[in-house]
Amino acid sequence: MTITNKQIHLVKRPSGEPTLDCFALVQEPLAEPLPGQVQVKNEFLSLDPYMRGRMDDAKSYAQPQALNAVFQGATAGEVIASNHPGFKPGDKIAGNFGLGWQTHATVDAKAIRKVDVSRVPLSYYVGLLGMPGATAWYGTTKILDPQAGQTLVVTAATGAVGGVVGQLAKSKGARVVGIAGGAAKCDYAVRELGFDACVDYKAADWKEALKAATPNGIDRVFENVGGEIFDAILGRMNAFGRIAVCGLISGYNGKALPLNNVRSILTNKLMVQGFIISDHLELWAQAHKELADLVVAGKLKYRESITEGVENAPKAFLGLLRGENFGKQVVKL
Ligand SMILES: NC(=O)c1ccc[n+]([C@@H]2O[C@H](COP(=O)([O-])OP(=O)(O)OC[C@H]3O[C@@H](n4cnc5c(N)ncnc54)[C@H](OP(=O)(O)O)[C@@H]3O)[C@@H](O)[C@H]2O)c1
Repeated sequence: MTITNKQIHLVKRPSGEPTLDCFALVQEPLAEPLPGQVQVKNEFLSLDPYMRGRMDDAKSYAQPQALNAVFQGATAGEVIASNHPGFKPGDKIAGNFGLGWQTHATVDAKAIRKVDVSRVPLSYYVGLLGMPGATAWYGTTKILDPQAGQTLVVTAATGAVGGVVGQLAKSKGARVVGIAGGAAKCDYAVRELGFDACVDYKAADWKEALKAATPNGIDRVFENVGGEIFDAILGRMNAFGRIAVCGLISGYNGKALPLNNVRSILTNKLMVQGFIISDHLELWAQAHKELADLVVAGKLKYRESITEGVENAPKAFLGLLRGENFGKQVVKL
């Protein structure tokens, strides 16, 4: 019996904020696996902010997403047929970025890897034990290295990356201040994730709140947002502070991100380090082992925002860019 594969294609490049008509649902028969290939049923799709950059036909660290082709992204699922000795039906797998927004895929075996779902749910392999988890671990432990008594600020604080950053920094003894959009997210950061404080940047007095939450200044920053928020942080840095520039999501739809407090980099002798996690693949296994051990031991909390159905992936993705997700955004198929 031929399986119908539902796919989401990028059919139009956005100008500014993407709209639903940039995407189209396409159905086609799933190809039989050739020698060396496997057929996979995707169970979870990862939605990530970097995908916005790939919608543009612009030079970046990642190739642009091709038009009229499956929208690429990380996945997790199950092998349903195999023409490769290393995989059998029923194996749980994580797919690399090529598998993308579709219900199924027929791929070379090198595009997938087996995963252990005895300790953690399958969906974690597109988040905590995938690219976002590695990102949080790398930026926190290898760039920021927060010390007891220091103040660390993390933006997009309850997201896939930010929530992990804050908890890792807390475990090192730092005072952790999150910045997030809305009272519910801030409440969660403090009550559930154990942050010392969280500033709601949507509140009118957020700059005063940032001052109050960082009475001794700021020593470490995990920056995910950019723009006005990053500028306010720069204005509160202590001498010899460190900043890991992980993302600038407030500018992904093309908004300019001017900085008035850039002088702080000079006068406070700051170390500012941008990074892209795909440059550090050799450390992902170590990161994932440490994060898995922490979450299994109940020492790390991890939250997901789950949308159902491949046809709803575009809407959920647009929501992610507006902060409608609360935790790691996945699509369950
Ligand atoms: N460098 C790398 O290798 C790498 C790897 C992974 C991720 N990243 C970056 O890390 C950041 C977080 O990624 P994630 O996967 O953890 O996503 P996420 O935080 O789960 O979701 C994105 C969040 O960004 C916030 N946001 C969106 N637009 C905003 C705006 N205009 N101003 C302020 N906040 C806004 C929203 O949270 P609020 O509701 O709190 O505003 C939203 O929930 C992104 O910038 C991403 O590009 C970089």
